[in-house]
Amino acid sequence: MTYSTLALSIAESATLRLNEQARLLRERGEAVIHLGIGEPKNRAPMTALLGAASKLNTGDIKYVPTDGLPGLKKAIIRYTEENYDRLVAPENVIVSAGAKQSIFNILYTLLNPQDEVIILAPYWVSYPEIVKMCYGIPVIVRPEDGTFHPRVEEIERAVTSSTKAIILNSPNNPSGIVFSDEFLAQIVDFCERRGIYVLADDIYHKLVFDGKQPTPAYRFTTKDVENSKIIVINGVAKLYGMTGFRIGWTIAPRKMVEVMTNVQSQVTTCVSPFLQTAAEAALIGMQSIVEQLRLTIQNNRDVIMNELHGFTGVKCVKPQGTFYCLPDFRAYKQDSVELSNFLLQRAYVVTVPGKEFGMEGHLRLSYAGSVKDVTEGIARIKWALDPNSPNEIYIGDKKMVRDWL
Ligand SMILES: Cc1ncc(COP(=O)(O)O)c(C=O)c1O
Repeated sequence: MTYSTLALSIAESATLRLNEQARLLRERGEAVIHLGIGEPKNRAPMTALLGAASKLNTGDIKYVPTDGLPGLKKAIIRYTEENYDRLVAPENVIVSAGAKQSIFNILYTLLNPQDEVIILAPYWVSYPEIVKMCYGIPVIVRPEDGTFHPRVEEIERAVTSSTKAIILNSPNNPSGIVFSDEFLAQIVDFCERRGIYVLADDIYHKLVFDGKQPTPAYRFTTKDVENSKIIVINGVAKLYGMTGFRIGWTIAPRKMVEVMTNVQSQVTTCVSPFLQTAAEAALIGMQSIVEQLRLTIQNNRDVIMNELHGFTGVKCVKPQGTFYCLPDFRAYKQDSVELSNFLLQRAYVVTVPGKEFGMEGHLRLSYAGSVKDVTEGIARIKWALDPNSPNEIYIGDKKMVRDWL
């Protein structure tokens, strides 16, 4: 039996694997704390639930247009006008089964075999794998100054005649940093001059802290959507707590949306209509839910930073957005996969190894859960790693004694 070499080269999603391990440990009765989770805890907006329910109640759940229901597209157009200051046409919008599928469809539509896509480390785990699945070559650019902020000169050095696109994700998963306006202006200008597509993955764009406003890449081009190289990806998963609804979208030139629609029509036909109705309801409903989530997450960010400050040897860049941070644990261990496994087995805390995001020696911690999870999770990590911390701890109702330091 043989399988495709390409398919065999695709890595398992590390975050989904960890979710599964955590589930199995929980099933065994262990008091697992999940600091690996990539979703907010809030319930989906009531308007979204009612929207989905009323659509289901019609009993008329059939195939719908591949590029998305007109109602949802209208809501996306309004969202784009309000948040990006761009008026786009329905033909510039395509709805997909989550931003992940949007990214896949975009890359599948853009890339010829061996085309290169620049990915900025630290990066979302799926980017390199999706590029490979589209026969492209991921080119990783790592900030040489040890920060998480990319620099234009480093990107320029990585560009070749085969460079087709660059993926920008700000606020950034996993570091939580927000790219500076100066960087965005320079990179958009450079890419438009060189004919390189800029994929702006804006899935966390409203989850920014301390009064910061997200700056859309569009602000730095004078070109309209038809002529610009900027392609916008967004969705309802992270801002509305609707990860399971699987609704994402792309804003791109008409011709590109046409090709993406053909691609999508041959793979998934269309996105489920009642889930699209739910997303539409979320987008046109009360937006205070997003602000409430942002405030909760900002508070959690403060809590986790406070806890990490008291952790000798651990350094952490303060996140300006998302619900992740990426502390440097190299003082304890270089190998982040080993460290993450160790913390799961000994302290029952789920973390995601930095290696998966192109940042070995770091762990991605999520503070999308409760304050209690954040404080207890960090206390357990401290107990497992720091010889100066007390060597006894309660995990659930079990008293644990550290005997390895
Ligand atoms: C940076 C980034 N882009 C895209 C996605 C995928 O979003 P969706 O759940 O809509 O597919 C995620 C999910 O974790 C993400 O972190």
